[in-house]
Amino acid sequence: MTGPITTERHGDILVIISNNPPVNALGSAVRTGLAAGIAEGLADDGVKAMVLRCEGRTFFAGADITEFGKPMTGPGLGEVIDAMEASTKPVVAAIHGTALGGGCETALGCHYRIAVPSAKIGTPEVKLGLLPGAGGTQRIPRIAGVPLALEMTAKGDPISARKALDAGLIDRLAGEDSLVEDAIAFARDIADVRPLPIASEKTATADPDAVAAFKKENGKRFRGFDAPAANIACVEKAADGSSFEEGIAFERQEFMKLMMGTQSAAQRHLFFAERQAAKIDGIAPDIALREIRKVGVIGAGTMGGGISMNFLSAGIPVTIVETQQEALDRGTGVMRKNYEGSAARGRIKPEQVEAAMGALTPTLDLSALADCDLIIEAIYENMDVKKELFAKLDTIAKPGAILASNTSYLNIDEMAAVTSRPGDVIGMHFFSPANVMKLLEVVRGAKTSDDVLATVMALGKKIKKVAVVSGVCPGFIGNRMLSPRQQEANKLLMEGATPEQIDRVHVEFGMPMGPFQMSDLAGVDIGWHRDPTRIESIRDALAAEGRWGQKKQAGFYDYDEKRNPTPSPRVAEIIEDFRSKSNLQKREISDQEIIEKTLYTMVNEGAKILDEKMAQRASDIDVVWIYGYGWPVYRGGPMFWADTEGLPKIVAALEKHGFTVAELLKSKAESGGKFNK
Ligand code: 3HC
Repeated sequence: MTGPITTERHGDILVIISNNPPVNALGSAVRTGLAAGIAEGLADDGVKAMVLRCEGRTFFAGADITEFGKPMTGPGLGEVIDAMEASTKPVVAAIHGTALGGGCETALGCHYRIAVPSAKIGTPEVKLGLLPGAGGTQRIPRIAGVPLALEMTAKGDPISARKALDAGLIDRLAGEDSLVEDAIAFARDIADVRPLPIASEKTATADPDAVAAFKKENGKRFRGFDAPAANIACVEKAADGSSFEEGIAFERQEFMKLMMGTQSAAQRHLFFAERQAAKIDGIAPDIALREIRKVGVIGAGTMGGGISMNFLSAGIPVTIVETQQEALDRGTGVMRKNYEGSAARGRIKPEQVEAAMGALTPTLDLSALADCDLIIEAIYENMDVKKELFAKLDTIAKPGAILASNTSYLNIDEMAAVTSRPGDVIGMHFFSPANVMKLLEVVRGAKTSDDVLATVMALGKKIKKVAVVSGVCPGFIGNRMLSPRQQEANKLLMEGATPEQIDRVHVEFGMPMGPFQMSDLAGVDIGWHRDPTRIESIRDALAAEGRWGQKKQAGFYDYDEKRNPTPSPRVAEIIEDFRSKSNLQKREISDQEIIEKTLYTMVNEGAKILDEKMAQRASDIDVVWIYGYGWPVYRGGPMFWADTEGLPKIVAALEKHGFTVAELLKSKAESGGKFNK
């Protein structure tokens, strides 16, 4: 046989081997080869049983996503799986790495499954806006029951080999290093056992209570998404007395609906966008990286502590520096509390708390950073203070150490300029809470060396962040786009919209909260000049009255003790007062106008960012907004969403409202182009 599938005889066992790097995706050639492999085993009288295994780092990681939306060649995956299940000789799947999506479904079409203990099994299609479309929604409940099938399909998180064993999804655990031998031995053990266990012939028991409880428990998580409900409906179908064939027909119909929809296109876009973001244009992927064995963090406040936790959790020791003992103790205390909280919730093991905290060196002495390979400052946002710090670090840090700033909007180049090593200076903008939020904006200064940038991007992956490269501009990618949204939201208040209306439009769009809910959460006083007599904006007026947001139970909203918001008559008065002073007439503002003014302007800013080459590609902007600001995943990020809205429509609306439209946006709209191909 040629192509990615080969076969090997081990006495009376035929081993069918897939070798399709990097993840053994089930593309056309693999599916064709698998069908041929099974046919070969069936045709050969000397073969009593077959083993299906994969070379490389993993068992099949799913259908080949790059083939989606293209005309199909070769047999469909469902067909191949049916052929395996119909084989009169037993087929054993030998699983290592991750058996995901179509990979999991392939394994379930085999009669038996053996896996190494480290293997994971799952159906993550829902994360691509899809459902397991090769029989998974029908076979999983038949083998493992409705409750687990709901968890696996509608949430999409993989389960461990041990859990799969308990649930009957695998039959045996292999030795971690002896999968092939153990699988062959297993195949010999069961070679003569009849009847063959066939998943599609089993029956699943309906469990309406489990379905209702599952929907209730996950209502918030599924809000706005189409795919979870479709997964649930398919699992229910598997247990409602319908035949397997009827279930498969239903699954196919639901799969096709999702596949043709915008949500799945958005989620598939993000899958590739996230991976693309890691690639740096113009830098060879194999560039030599600097080794980061120890990290220094300056500032033990909320940001500094959160940043430190990322490295400690990844097993990288951290030296954390503060100016006052009290602040240092408070900061490290918060870190410990966070770790202990995670342990109490079962997210980490208790011993990991001590391992992480044990790798932390708190100090008041800046010179203790001399042995660090990377130093990140997380002090307050003041350019003069930061420059002074960078000049000091230049004298302390060892040669080759990377000096990073966590600034969210200040100019990295100015900081680099006060050092003798501007090539080693870079921005690492974490998002709060820094130990939780996935986004890391990596700010490439004018003089940042290629290897420094590549090292920090790779480190981002190591600490489980999604890292995106940004150029130096105020607010970088994310906060720069937040700025027009905030400005326009404030203007709309003056013209007659309420905070409630603007926030509602954003929440209905799918954002976790609207601009004013966000202000109240973050603190209305953040960035306030602190002069109660100087009132130049609605925000100043709120801050001057002590309406600092949720922490004061009053901000743009009034809050009760449980932080439930209600519209504030006082805020309405303040707005009214500003409006009359500005001689503005209150008018009716439509939800559509709010979208156009607060969201289309963000797209416009994104286009300017691309025009100025501050982001490498439109999909990077999407990644920033998804992972940094909670842009709804099913809308694929602002630039992907703009493509689905239609760029000419956006340009027309922006022009109607008198905005200057970015050149790139205008030219793409005129030429019928898109931001994302
Ligand atoms: N199809 C095509 N390409 C894939 C792929 C897939 N299913 N899975 C991964 N790749 C590609 C990635 O795009 C990446 O390409 P690049 O190097 O050019 O950027 C490369 O393989 C390596 O992937 P990762 O960087 O993600 O590698 P990791 O080792 O970090 O992770 C993984 C491996 C856990 C398997 C992860 O790639 C993953 O989660 N893959 C997707 C799994 C999935 O969603 N499967 C379901 C597919 S849909 C389906 O099966 C439908 C069926 O029900 C009909």
